Amino acid sequence: MDFKGQHILEAKQFDKEGLLALFEEAKKMEGILDNGGGDLMKDKIMATLFFEPSTRTRFSFETAMHRLGGSVISNPDMMRTSSLKKSETLEDTGKTVSQMADVIVMRHPEAGSVAKLASKSDVPVLNAGDGAHDHPTQGLLDVYTIWREKGGLDGLTVGMVGDLKYGRVVHAECEMLSYFDVKFVFVSPEGLKMPEGLVDDARELVNLEEVIGELDVISMTRIQRERFESEEEYNKYAGLYVLDAELMKKAKDDSIVIHPLPRVDEISVEVDYDPRAKYFDQPRYGVAVRMALLKMVMA
Ligand code: CP
Repeated sequence: MDFKGQHILEAKQFDKEGLLALFEEAKKMEGILDNGGGDLMKDKIMATLFFEPSTRTRFSFETAMHRLGGSVISNPDMMRTSSLKKSETLEDTGKTVSQMADVIVMRHPEAGSVAKLASKSDVPVLNAGDGAHDHPTQGLLDVYTIWREKGGLDGLTVGMVGDLKYGRVVHAECEMLSYFDVKFVFVSPEGLKMPEGLVDDARELVNLEEVIGELDVISMTRIQRERFESEEEYNKYAGLYVLDAELMKKAKDDSIVIHPLPRVDEISVEVDYDPRAKYFDQPRYGVAVRMALLKMVMA
C-alpha cells in the first residue's frame, strides 16, 4: 500500500503489508526519539483541528511533528472558536486550511465528518477520531504496542473488554488484527456487543474472569459515556468491568494489558504497578507511530 498523499480516514484502508511497513518505520522512529528528534519535516506545517476533547491524540500528533522538526498550528476548540460557528461548512474549512498547512489532523464527534472535510482538502487529512466510527491512528498504536511487546501478532489470543459497541478504537483494532492469525474473544454486556461483520469468528461472552487466563492480550476500553442518549442508559453499564490485582492473578504471566486511555474505573490503579500493564507505554509508542505515518503520508 502506498501511503503518499493519502487521507487516513479509517482502519480498513490498511493492508497487512502496509501495517508491517509502518511498524518497521515506527521502530526506526523510536530510535530518532531516543536521540531527541530529527529534521525530516523541517518547513512542513501540520494543522490540528479538534472539535472534541483530547489529551493524548492531539499532544501525540503535535509531539510527533515537533520531534520531526516541523511546525504546528492548532485549534483545540474548533466547535466554539472557529468560523464553523458562523455557519462555514466543513468542506470550506478543509479547502481553506489546506492552503496553509501541509497536513491536517482532525477529531470530531460525528461519524463521517473527517471524510467530509477531507473531500475538499488539497493536503492529506488524518482522522483523529470521528464519533463512534473510527480512530485509525489509535488502532495503529494499539496494534503496534502488541507487535512490539509480544514480538509479533500471529498466534495470539486477544480479548477485547468493555464497550465494544461504541468503542471506535476496538473497531479499528479488530480491522487491523484480522489480517493476522489472531483469535478474538469479545467480553461485553449484551447491550454493548461488537457490531456485526467486523470479525468472522469470535468467541463472545459477558464474564471476563471466565476467560482471562486464556488471553495473551487484555485490551480494555471504557464505557463511552459521551455516546449514550441519557445518563440513565450509561449508568446501566458504568462500573461493570474492573480489572484489579485480584483478577490479574488469574491472567497469564506473559500477557499484556493495553488501554487507549483515558480510563474511568475499568482498570484499578494498583494494576499500574504490574509489569504486564502496558497502557502507560502506549503514549510513547503512539508518538513513534504518528511520526512514521507523517513521514509515509508526506514522504
Ligand atoms: N486515546 C485517545 O484517543 O485519547 P484522547 O481522547 O485523550 O486523545
